[in-house]
Amino acid sequence: MAGLVRFSVSLEKELSGKFDALIRKRKWQNRSEAFRKLIKQELIEEEWLKNEEVAGAIVLVYDHHRRDLLHKLTHLQHDFSKLILSTQHIHLDHHNCLEVIVVKGRPTDAQRLRDALKAIKGIKCGSLAAASTGERIP
Ligand code: NI
Repeated sequence: MAGLVRFSVSLEKELSGKFDALIRKRKWQNRSEAFRKLIKQELIEEEWLKNEEVAGAIVLVYDHHRRDLLHKLTHLQHDFSKLILSTQHIHLDHHNCLEVIVVKGRPTDAQRLRDALKAIKGIKCGSLAAASTGERIP
């Protein structure tokens, strides 16, 4: 690997044991791979904290029979059309729908959209998966 930097890490014995157990559970190849994954996850968290451009997905579950719900849901997504890249709708059963709204933009806008969606009566759950555009993550 080009530009590889090596450094040593000191850990308490108990923490080191828990770290190795986590590496086995997650099926990571070794401690170096584990550190790379953990550092990247922290860098993504920093992007969200600094309100840099990020990507993510809002997942909703709702009963489509609820009056006005679909109208409100569509109206809100049109208000945030610059933030939304795509929407996928899955009919889970006779009543329930799952919708995945993929977003790219400022974290504060993504959180505003999630909160506005969750405020609609009949939305059973709404969560935001925080990811990255990948541009600032090596
Ligand atoms: Ni449906």
